[in-house]
Amino acid sequence: MKKILAGNWKMFKTRSDVEDFFSHVSNRVAESPVRKIVAASPTLLESAVAHSLETGIEIFSQNCHWETQGAFTGEISPLQLADVGAVGTLIGHSERRQLFQETDESCLKRAFSALNAGLEVIYCVGETIEARKAGQTLQVLEKQLKSVIELKAPREKFILAYEPVWAIGTGLTANSEQIIETHNWIAEILEKNSLNFQILYGGSVKPTNFKEIASLKHVSGGLVGGASLEAESYLQLHDCLMA
Ligand code: PGA
Repeated sequence: MKKILAGNWKMFKTRSDVEDFFSHVSNRVAESPVRKIVAASPTLLESAVAHSLETGIEIFSQNCHWETQGAFTGEISPLQLADVGAVGTLIGHSERRQLFQETDESCLKRAFSALNAGLEVIYCVGETIEARKAGQTLQVLEKQLKSVIELKAPREKFILAYEPVWAIGTGLTANSEQIIETHNWIAEILEKNSLNFQILYGGSVKPTNFKEIASLKHVSGGLVGGASLEAESYLQLHDCLMA
């Protein structure tokens, strides 16, 4: 399986920034064996998709509603995402869970619809600092994974992202030991349930630590926020997966 570099642009960039980004990365990543993804805001999807073919960068949304259409002001449906050429979506990012009250139940509904619509899903799980300090990391993950295991939808296009909440946007990265322990444990749970998803690590991934993180067992790549925004940094992250 190819290693994955997934950028999460969060609520950053305008369309002209997108043009700048793609003009910089275009001929440096087009032919590479790395799987490249960017999750962008709804207003940027169309311009980003227009560059997908020449760069090989697949364009994802950052969220997706469970209904195809309806009175859900401010939401975006799987049908609308597919219509604009997005090929996948993030679900359950910790900012969605913490700031917008997403629950395991709502994340599951979103993932179910996205997968059934043929979109790929990067499903995020991760513990807070309080849970880690209380020694409850595995319990928290177990609860989040339970919904994933129960997901009754086609799961060929399903990727997990382990993102410790305390490491996102904080500059604190989980150390190799913590990543190995958690990814091994997630892989074991998946295996027990006859599942075999790729697992990305996310949380303050940078060009300086990505090579080491991506080489760890059961780490298929990274979901990267801040360091994926600038073209040069995205290229450096990409090159970490080339060696
Ligand atoms: P970060 O964000 O790389 O800026 O920590 C990761 C994410 O939000 O997925």
